[in-house]
Amino acid sequence: MTKEFWDNRFNTEEFVFGTEASEFVKKHANYLTPNSKIFVPGDGEGRNSCYLASLGHHVYATDFSEIAIEKAKKLCAEKNSDVTFEVMNIFDWEPEAEEYDAIIAIFIQFAPPEERNKLFAKFKKALKPDGLIMLHGYSPKQLQFLTGGPKAIENLYTKDLLRHDFAEFDMLQLEEYDAHLEEGHAHKGPSALIDMVARKDDWQY
Ligand SMILES: C[S@@+](CC[C@H](N)C(=O)[O-])C[C@H]1O[C@@H](n2cnc3c(N)ncnc32)[C@H](O)[C@@H]1O
Repeated sequence: MTKEFWDNRFNTEEFVFGTEASEFVKKHANYLTPNSKIFVPGDGEGRNSCYLASLGHHVYATDFSEIAIEKAKKLCAEKNSDVTFEVMNIFDWEPEAEEYDAIIAIFIQFAPPEERNKLFAKFKKALKPDGLIMLHGYSPKQLQFLTGGPKAIENLYTKDLLRHDFAEFDMLQLEEYDAHLEEGHAHKGPSALIDMVARKDDWQY
């Protein structure tokens, strides 16, 4: 989807994906060490970054939609959460090595396989040894529900794909399940989800 598509989608008073952090983020936030430095790509209107900052983490959130980021800044101000925002096309991101304690990527399935592979390689580079990657998105079964997410099946995650792509990581959580989402009007209804929490293994790098 283009930047114009997302700008149009976010160009409304309403928070398209709601203002509450994803259940996945809330459920797995206890894996994070206190005061973690966290990178949040494709953060949208800020529901997850504001929540993570409210836990005392140092959150660096990005999205390519200025409109989304303006809404995210407003949300964080209301919640008294201090997040550093940057407008950025994630495919242009050139990360420093070993900068972050965690990368938390929620519904960033806009990347087709070739771009996703490059992005995952950058995530691995940007994580400190022992750093955490937390991914949450849709599995291919979501195409039966059509209650959110891309229709390009190749962009969706399976357990095999994530196990393969993060083979050198310690897999802490990997789960595919159905759940009812109520995240604004964009993610609403029965949904086929997949969660991953994995740790960069110090010995592999
Ligand atoms: C499905 S939304 C999820 C937003 C947020 N993570 C959440 O769960 O509420 C996907 C987000 O990715 C952003 N996005 C799409 N393509 C992008 C790109 N190439 N670079 C940066 N952000 C992008 C969109 O603007 C949108 O905010």
